[in-house]
Amino acid sequence: MELDEVMEQRRSFRALDGMEMTDDMVTDLAEAASLSPSCANNQPWRFVFVRKGPQLDLLLGTLSGGNYWARKASMVAAVITKPELDCRNEEGDYHWFDTGMATGLLLLKATEMGLLTHPIAGFDQKAARKVLEVPEGYELLTLIIFGKRSMDLSGLSEKHQKQETTRPERLPLEKIAFMERFQGE
Ligand SMILES: Cc1cc2nc3c(=O)[nH]c(=O)nc-3n(C[C@H](O)[C@H](O)[C@H](O)COP(=O)(O)O)c2cc1C
Repeated sequence: MELDEVMEQRRSFRALDGMEMTDDMVTDLAEAASLSPSCANNQPWRFVFVRKGPQLDLLLGTLSGGNYWARKASMVAAVITKPELDCRNEEGDYHWFDTGMATGLLLLKATEMGLLTHPIAGFDQKAARKVLEVPEGYELLTLIIFGKRSMDLSGLSEKHQKQETTRPERLPLEKIAFMERFQGE
């Protein structure tokens, strides 16, 4: 698949079918993320991949009600970082930026592999950290839901059915891209 096609096909779909997530698939995803740029090559991203089993059941039990659709996930990847793992200066820290970029590559790789991915922030932080045994000082940024895309939308709410077939609207380019100097609001 060409890059343009991968970017176009990546969507946060919610209608999921189960599938087997092999060790090789997990390695391919982690390798894609590891190729991401980072400040001073600090690579502040950490991922925990949780596949089918009691640990996944526990993790899915931390999801908020609005993420009911994710309970069919075949795998969840937890995205973790901490400020001390990356460049820090007076203007701010770079660990979120760098971890976000690596996560973007992981999402694109997964899309190229034909997987459905959907990042979520709607989960009980405290409970999820406990399940994943995330040490204090580390930040659990998001959970990425993995599965196989299903065309059966019957398990989704009306709102989610609509979002499944229509890409959420993007800001016009004039609002996000400028020439020569910042001209945003
Ligand atoms: C950090 C983050 C948190 C998100 N949290 C949720 C969530 O809790 N539940 C959900 O259904 N979608 C969640 N999303 C998905 C976004 O709603 C989705 O990416 C956005 O609407 C754009 O749609 P697209 O990914 O299909 O292009 C989240 C996405 C990101 C990046």
